[in-house]
Amino acid sequence: MTAPISPKPVSVARALGLVTSFLGHRMGWVALSIGLLVFNIGIELSLPQFLGNAITHLNTITHLDQNSSPADYHYLVISVLIFLGLVLTRMIVGLLLGPLRNVTAQRTLGDIRAAVYDALQRQSFSWHDNARTGELISRASTDIFRLQEFIFVCLLFSVDVSAGLLGTTLFIFSIDPTLGQLTLLAMVPTVLALGYFAVRLQPRWRRVHDRHSAMSTVIQENIAGVRVVKAFAREMAEVAKFRSQKDAYLAELTTTVNYWAARVPFAQFIFGLGVPMVLWVGGGKVIRHEMGLGQLSKVIFYLLALGNRIGVIGQITSIIQNAGSSAQRVAEILLAPVSLQPGPRELPPSTAPASVRFEQVTFGYQQKPSLMVEGDKPDESIRASRPEATGRLALENVSFCVAPGETVALVGPTGGGKSTLLSLIPRFYDPQAGRIAVDGIDIRELDYRSLRQSIGLVFQETFLFSATVGENIGFGRPEATRLEIEEVARVARAHGFISELPKGYDTVIGERGISLSGGQRQRIAIARALLQQPRLLLLDDSTSAIDPGTEREIREAMAELRRGRTTVLVAQRLSTVRIADRILVLQEGRLVEQGSHAELMARKGGYATLFHSQLVEPVIG
Ligand SMILES: Nc1ncnc2c1ncn2[C@@H]1O[C@H](COP(=O)(O)OP(=O)(O)OP(=O)(O)O)[C@@H](O)[C@H]1O
Ligand SMILES: [Mg+2]
Repeated sequence: MTAPISPKPVSVARALGLVTSFLGHRMGWVALSIGLLVFNIGIELSLPQFLGNAITHLNTITHLDQNSSPADYHYLVISVLIFLGLVLTRMIVGLLLGPLRNVTAQRTLGDIRAAVYDALQRQSFSWHDNARTGELISRASTDIFRLQEFIFVCLLFSVDVSAGLLGTTLFIFSIDPTLGQLTLLAMVPTVLALGYFAVRLQPRWRRVHDRHSAMSTVIQENIAGVRVVKAFAREMAEVAKFRSQKDAYLAELTTTVNYWAARVPFAQFIFGLGVPMVLWVGGGKVIRHEMGLGQLSKVIFYLLALGNRIGVIGQITSIIQNAGSSAQRVAEILLAPVSLQPGPRELPPSTAPASVRFEQVTFGYQQKPSLMVEGDKPDESIRASRPEATGRLALENVSFCVAPGETVALVGPTGGGKSTLLSLIPRFYDPQAGRIAVDGIDIRELDYRSLRQSIGLVFQETFLFSATVGENIGFGRPEATRLEIEEVARVARAHGFISELPKGYDTVIGERGISLSGGQRQRIAIARALLQQPRLLLLDDSTSAIDPGTEREIREAMAELRRGRTTVLVAQRLSTVRIADRILVLQEGRLVEQGSHAELMARKGGYATLFHSQLVEPVIG
């Protein structure tokens, strides 16, 4: 019942619609911004009227009498003052508008970021397995940043251009319909030309962004894997790999930007042809006294304003396009179906140890990209996305029970499916066949959050956050007191070395802080799991070769750990296996033997062989 994870292509229009819909959450701010903007456009449209009227007036009085009088200046002074007043008002409104729309845009972007983060957190393990970290980081940061201009377009330019174009054209028509028609005649081919460029540019921007993201992935992986790169002296090869990604990105970007840069001069030229046309026809009308000089001036002023707006249209189309592919890349995350749905039931509250039951469980990892990136063929990946495992099966027909309070050890050769088996219990993945029950309830019927809260988990690889030791231990229960944290640390045999750290529990560890050894990290992870007071403890034990002292400490810790709870642990060492009530041997995904240590040794089967070949050595060492 694992849902398909391959991405469905999201159309540009749908992606942009989705981004725009976020403005809906900030309706008050949006309405205020647009209101002020329309007010300013109104002022702008009235300016040519004043200029035209002033010219008409001047033209009349200079024709009527040759001698100027102070009264003639009166009209001029008023016109100048009104003009100044309008320009001043426009500036004040503009100054208010700047911060207002900035706040609106930034809050909206913040909402989008939060939604993306939310979507990333909600996604299943298999979705994350099949997505590359660099790609996700690039979409969650760069692509959202690129949407900033688009949000401004929605808030600002779209209203500006549509109200401006419409208002200007209407005014020209009201002054002279013939000149209005001429204006439309120039405008239509201009807009068509811009549209043509826009359509041609769209796929190019997507390629540019995918290339940028591929380049970021190389950077991210090299930073994350810097030790491996250096250990194998592969710096030069990695630099070369980055160079080729960077060159590919630059090549794509250069052709696209060249194409992009051509469109506004081209469009302005087409529209520019309209001005002499209007001058010719309108000038003729003025000569024939069919039209006043002031009226023609108004039309020309409006036309020049339109010419500026054409530049803005060009800018808008390019911003929308640029945003189009970023919006698509963000929408693919926002609209990705969440394959794991919480069931309707909660685990009944209890502190008693839980029981676990596997019934003929078969599971294989899915290997399909969860995001679309350059080179993917969307149609094929969709056709291939049947909800089945694509790779080899990691678990096949596995059945067993763990009674409440029991400790079961999983052993077997590497790749046998031990970690996989553990990860199915908290429902990190859903099996393709079979059923898993905790306390007799099918875990698919449970709300997985309630299930996971009763489980304490220690992964094979410990991840610690860049935070203090105390915060890392308290991750699952931030409200835990220092006393509780110290208590679990003692049980996990971590208190000793933590006390020796420079600032004890307040020492920052992880990427920014001091580093800990593998065994120390694991003990912090055990303390973190214990703090949850889990009814079921799942331990993936990775530290195989450690010194006898630590070995004994861990054994003692284990014994305390399992008290009063059910434990399933992956055992790499003899000592760990010994504390188990029962042992399950997993080989190539199949449960080949189970029983107590003595039973299995007596059987002289797979376990006995494994015991002699693998489990003995570390203890000797
Ligand atoms: N996230 C994953 N995506 C795809 N395949 C995986 C994933 N994790 C494990 N596998 C595969 O599933 C199989 C079982 O792996 P698993 O990690 O469960 O083995 P294991 O018994 O824990 O091994 P080890 O003792 O080395 O930890 C292996 O073939 C492995 O390659
Ligand atoms: Mg493992």
